[in-house]
Amino acid sequence: MLEENAQKKMQVKNHVNEKMEAIVALAKRRGFIYQGSEIYGGLAGTWDYGPFGVALKNNITNMWWKMFVDDREDMYGIDAAILMNPRAWVASGHVGGFADPLVEDLKTKKRYRADHLLEEAEIDTKGMTLVQMNDAIQKLGIRSPDKNPLGEVRQFNMMFATNIGATEHDASEIYLRPETAGGMFVNYKNILDSFHPKLPFGLAQIGKAFRNEIAPRDFIFRVRELEQMEIEYFIRPTDWEVQFEQWRTQIWRFIEAIGLDKEKVHELEIAVADRAHYSKRTIDLEYDFPFGRKELYGLAYRGDFDLKSHQDGSKVNLEYFDEETKEKFLPHVIEPSFGLGRTMLAILSEAYTEDEMAGEKRVYLKFKPRMAPVIVAVFPLLKNKPELVAKAREVYVVLKGEFGRVMFDDNGNVGKRYRRQDEIGTPWCVTIDFDTLGENTELLDTVTVRNRDNGTQVRIAISDLKNHIKSVIK
Ligand code: GAP
Repeated sequence: MLEENAQKKMQVKNHVNEKMEAIVALAKRRGFIYQGSEIYGGLAGTWDYGPFGVALKNNITNMWWKMFVDDREDMYGIDAAILMNPRAWVASGHVGGFADPLVEDLKTKKRYRADHLLEEAEIDTKGMTLVQMNDAIQKLGIRSPDKNPLGEVRQFNMMFATNIGATEHDASEIYLRPETAGGMFVNYKNILDSFHPKLPFGLAQIGKAFRNEIAPRDFIFRVRELEQMEIEYFIRPTDWEVQFEQWRTQIWRFIEAIGLDKEKVHELEIAVADRAHYSKRTIDLEYDFPFGRKELYGLAYRGDFDLKSHQDGSKVNLEYFDEETKEKFLPHVIEPSFGLGRTMLAILSEAYTEDEMAGEKRVYLKFKPRMAPVIVAVFPLLKNKPELVAKAREVYVVLKGEFGRVMFDDNGNVGKRYRRQDEIGTPWCVTIDFDTLGENTELLDTVTVRNRDNGTQVRIAISDLKNHIKSVIK
């Protein structure tokens, strides 16, 4: 029985690996995501985004910014520096405690996340202290993936340190920010002073963060250079439950807007023992990635921990003055935090589809049309007929002017172009053929529009094309 279970598990694992390998290969083949510094053998935990990867990322960030900044009256967008005064990271607690449990293979000296090794042995590490992890590893005789004994579990600070200026002594040591949140807390007072917002109000920021992950893995899921989309929403302390619920609903609205299947997203209420000491409530939103259910986003009620710490650290008064009650107090904070790479990976793994069309196997990315890097591709039926190419360019220019994300493709035969566009996830392909030019007079100035998901084609007048595509973009 045990063997049977182990075999089943292995089969599931192989299937998962195959799906992830197929996604990674497609992402590279079609210009979404490349290994970082690939020609030098790569750099673990870094990935470079190609043209379609950038387009997909922009679609995600544009949607996020529209929903959480542009469409609201209570949000202030900022873009703070990545390099910050290191005192900010002392105050936030990152210098002292932004760490993961590290364990070393005593023979190879390779380092691993102790909690990951325990989880692979099906031990639930939630709430475990370092000592408990150590005990579990020793008691269960857990070894490294190379089958060697492991050393003591210890804390490993994940911040990347560097030196500012020309000196290399301690006083010049600074950090690459490990989260975008810090930049918002240090700008809270600037926003108060420039805009005099009334509570509740929030700061929003999209940007890079850096974490020296012990074990980067699962493609762009756990990386060392990441992008976050974060909000620090300042509230009256008594409002926290209402505001927490409000943001919970907003996160679900975003999940729906980018086209993720809600059934694949799950809320995980973080237990008291696993929450940061200052948090009264934290929910993780987990997604069913091909390699398992893992954290996608977080929503935390952080009390006044951050403003209090930065007030103490900077010695600058960060209190809010309530004009009506004439009260001064430190607002509390609700923090919805979104990983951009994880959003992208969730979208890619959900869109990745294999099926059969006209008796042939095909792969396509079933993006929600408005998230697709290319909304429509335009082809001349044949590349070597100038009159077809000229008409196709005319149609392309009109559509490009309207939708922007439009591609002209005349490479290879039409079948090959469809397969290529399917892999890019382009919802519609428009072909200009001889009927468009009037070979069949009834079809003069009409084109075929082919649907990515089922391969069906409809004939549409060029003059109706823009409106037709507008009406089907969801
Ligand atoms: N300001 C709160 C904060 O940074 P976090 O849970 O450490 O909280 C927030 O990170 C989000 O950032 C996560 O939910 C995840 O989407 C993303 N994230 C965190 N570490 C990551 C990593 N190493 N690689 C990719 N994304 C990461």
